[in-house]
Amino acid sequence: AATAPEGTFGFTPIDPVPYTTDSFVVPEGFDWAPILRWGDPLFDDSPAFDATNQTPEAQARQFGYNVDYTDIIRTSDTTAILFVNHEYTNETIMFPADQLANDLDRVRGVGLKAHGLSVVELTRTDITAPWEPVVGAPLNRRFLDDTEYVMTGPAAGSPLLRTDADPSGTRVLGTFGNCAGGTTPWGTILSGEENFNGYFRSAGTSAAEERYGLADEETQRGWEHLDPRFDARTPGYENEVNRFGWIVEIDPTDPTSTPRKHTMLGRLKHEGANVIIADNGRAVAYSGDDERFDYLYKFVSRDSFVEGDRAHNMTLLEDGSLYVARFSGNSPAGEIDGSGELPSDGAFDGTGEWLPLVVDNASVVPGMSTDEVLVHTRLAADAVGATKMDRPEDVEPNPATGRVYVACTNNSNRGVDGNDPADEVNPRTENRDGHVIEIAEDGGDQTSTTFAWNLLLVAGDPSTNTTTYFSGFPMNEVSPISCPDNLAFDSQGNLWISTDGAPSTIGYNDGLFRVTLEGPDRGRVEQFLSVPAEAETCGPVVHDDEWHVFVSVQHPGEDGTYEQPTSTFPDSMKTAPLAAAGGAELSIPRPTTVQVFPLPG
Ligand code: FEO
Ligand code: CA
Ligand code: CA
Ligand code: CA
Repeated sequence: AATAPEGTFGFTPIDPVPYTTDSFVVPEGFDWAPILRWGDPLFDDSPAFDATNQTPEAQARQFGYNVDYTDIIRTSDTTAILFVNHEYTNETIMFPADQLANDLDRVRGVGLKAHGLSVVELTRTDITAPWEPVVGAPLNRRFLDDTEYVMTGPAAGSPLLRTDADPSGTRVLGTFGNCAGGTTPWGTILSGEENFNGYFRSAGTSAAEERYGLADEETQRGWEHLDPRFDARTPGYENEVNRFGWIVEIDPTDPTSTPRKHTMLGRLKHEGANVIIADNGRAVAYSGDDERFDYLYKFVSRDSFVEGDRAHNMTLLEDGSLYVARFSGNSPAGEIDGSGELPSDGAFDGTGEWLPLVVDNASVVPGMSTDEVLVHTRLAADAVGATKMDRPEDVEPNPATGRVYVACTNNSNRGVDGNDPADEVNPRTENRDGHVIEIAEDGGDQTSTTFAWNLLLVAGDPSTNTTTYFSGFPMNEVSPISCPDNLAFDSQGNLWISTDGAPSTIGYNDGLFRVTLEGPDRGRVEQFLSVPAEAETCGPVVHDDEWHVFVSVQHPGEDGTYEQPTSTFPDSMKTAPLAAAGGAELSIPRPTTVQVFPLPG
């Protein structure tokens, strides 16, 4: 049988790619191939993709749009299960102008069905071959707007979650804005409902509505014209919006399973969630609320993980305690002036505490009931004095060390227009390039309520920006990096970071970077790949044991139109496994999940 290349996975970093370039770039000795593109068929009855005549019925049976969180769960040398979030849609490049202007039912209906989640079986001939999708495989599934989810945890059934269509407050249709996620130690997938507010029109008058960015304005996609549940002003649907903003758990191995929304992890713009099992057996989940000046959260389960008892482990996120982070710095306060210059003690670092919001399923926030804390979690976190962060995106514990990494992608409002000033954990005024925090729970106990922290990276292009920091690694030897978003780890314990926003900050296309965490090379940043024009790099998966790396390419050519595309990724660049499935004759870009693999020899 064929084998992966000998020795430890390695590569020569690529040069950063100017943002005007529409290409997918990998290191010398590697190649890439699409796995699945927007519109590819998943089922035996799926129609071929035809962007000139896309319909809601076709889209419901095809791979969705803007691919985000991704995992590839290997089930044998030649079989695997692909999971992908479809975060949102870019209608102006999906549809011809005449449809955008005159066929709104089509545009809205396709957009609705292009959201959600996908599970797709993959196969390959041997471990050196790229994965290919299996159309019509038994586990293939689209999670759509009419898929039923069960609410779990202390707020399930709360009056805050009841609607006329669901007086029980426990059964919800659909998931929207699914951004990052995580695969649990028991083999399920967690997916974060992030910018859910954008799908709902609301009176926008209550403190909670304002805090969650809900407004009395027509939504961007206008789904309230398709279905009154997207308009919270509709009598009986006032609480529909409260049924979104959760962490969703799905079982990719059972296509008949009912997915769940876990109220115990709170309601916020969840980027995603990642679980680690503490030494005492508790499941600990970390999650960021991706908004300027919002917070970092941690959930600790009431019950303990039981190896091999999957049914029990699938209940772990239903009961427990929820905390929000408060950070303290240890440098002389006057030295944290927003410039980003390193303080005299040589590090942005300090200590922190996890402030309890709910302990053992009961609110500990004065004046708020348990369901109020879990449904209006941002208000609860405001009340206890959590630290306002620079948009915490992916938060992921390193399985090798237990240390937790937080990607703060950027916050151009830090310290300006009367907004909160810089502090030691968010040390730059108008933070355009972002930073990465490293957290070590006290005593190595993942359930601890206190921790130490330091900044691993203060991002940017060190050739043009003197306030970048790479844990002391020489700045002239790193790849420039900006706007860290998604995180992953390889089997060597290195951190991998994908980015979203580098074109507008450092002038290079977004990409995927490896960061050494241990030893003398700590802080070394090496760029592995670069995505096409106007795309964001999402969902990195690193199977370095097989020399395979995967990314989902989101919103390529997002600034173009159907008639005037600004990217032609991927069909002008590579043949996809399902090339015969339609669309290749078009020049419009297609969000695509991609595999990178070594060239033979
Ligand atoms: Fe959907 Fe926070 O990125
Ligand atoms: Ca310090
Ligand atoms: Ca993201
Ligand atoms: Ca992002």
